[in-house]
Amino acid sequence: MTPEITAVEQRSAANVIIDREKLHLLQNYSRYPLALSRGKGSYLFGVDGKKYLDLITGIGVNALGHGHPRLQKAIKDQAKLLIHCSNLYYHEYQGLLAEKIAKASGLARCFFCNSGTEAMEGALKMVHSHGRQISPEKFEIVSLENSFHGRTLGALSITGQQKYREDFEPLIPGVRFVPINNVAALESAVSPNTAGIVLEIIQGEGGIYPASDAFVRKAKELSERYNALLVFDEIQCGVGRRGVYFGYQTIQPVVQPDVMVAAKPLAAGLPLGVIACNEKAAGTIKAGMHGSTFGGGALACRVAVEFFDILDGLLPQITARGDYFRQKLLDLAASYDFVKEVRVHGLMIGVELKMPGKQIVLDAMEQGLLINCTHDTVLRFLPPYTISEAEIDKAIRILNKLFRKGKLYYKEFRSQPKEA
Ligand SMILES: Cc1ncc(COP(=O)(O)O)c(C=O)c1O
Repeated sequence: MTPEITAVEQRSAANVIIDREKLHLLQNYSRYPLALSRGKGSYLFGVDGKKYLDLITGIGVNALGHGHPRLQKAIKDQAKLLIHCSNLYYHEYQGLLAEKIAKASGLARCFFCNSGTEAMEGALKMVHSHGRQISPEKFEIVSLENSFHGRTLGALSITGQQKYREDFEPLIPGVRFVPINNVAALESAVSPNTAGIVLEIIQGEGGIYPASDAFVRKAKELSERYNALLVFDEIQCGVGRRGVYFGYQTIQPVVQPDVMVAAKPLAAGLPLGVIACNEKAAGTIKAGMHGSTFGGGALACRVAVEFFDILDGLLPQITARGDYFRQKLLDLAASYDFVKEVRVHGLMIGVELKMPGKQIVLDAMEQGLLINCTHDTVLRFLPPYTISEAEIDKAIRILNKLFRKGKLYYKEFRSQPKEA
């Protein structure tokens, strides 16, 4: 932004962007009224030059914040050499990235795609193919109530939230939903006809709820007993967010899935998704049964390789910053009776309120803090893995200010007549 551009012109630049989108884009998003132009570290800047502390990072994507010099260099270097060549041919970085993921996850084989939902879609094809190899009746899938797995028809079919599904039914048949951490319900849902059990290891869109170790262990036992594929959705909680490579690695002893899907931070800002699986699951997909034009492109894979190299040294810091954030949030929450619970898993953080959180998110934007609200009442923070203690302190100071105003919202909320 050049200094001679006036504040009015800056504001109208934002309005031009917003108005053009309103005219020419599908109106499927309810965006916040903010147009962004650039980012640096943990900060984003609006087209008006206003600075925002970014604690949502493109919904858990920009894991190293914005403009990380090593990622910038990898993008620049690779863009000069080769951006895309399709999966008709080999390039240097797909195999290298698969090797790193295999080492980090213990899952021998990878398939690369471009998003989370696409990874889940491929995993569902594996589940169906696995079932068909055994019996035509073996196509059932057990998934979790309150889960979120993406927007394609397959991923919606196993998403346990009616609001995402209802406009698109009928979906894939044979899906049974069980409440998270209800071992008895899980046991009674799984049968010889179950081809796959899909677990979102920490429910993200659902409000930051982790699956318990006992529940995951039971899912593993049932998947072995009934020869069903065990699939973990690590799209939001994986690739470092919990301070380990993949969320399931916090379970001790580690419970290995047959299939794991990951995406969001995988290429630290570029679109990339992965299905990682063991040899048993890999055997369900033969040549020609699945594919992608863009998936695993040279640019995205090179950046992801660079990101993994950085992540290796960053994992302990993610855990430490998560612990620091938890303590600060618990201290803050103690002063506000409208905070129901603080849930912190590495740098995947939910603050559940006893009232809707949308107005607090809007107020936060005013104060230069970007967070979001999921499941109506849960303030969600997915900060960059590189966030500093000083930036966490700053976020807490802003939240304290917002929560003081939040007392009024809570009073108002409680005085409203409750629906019968
Ligand atoms: C757990 C989980 N699964 C799947 C998805 C879908 O991923 P994408 O939006 O990249 O398609 C998301 C996105 O929020 C997610 O959080």
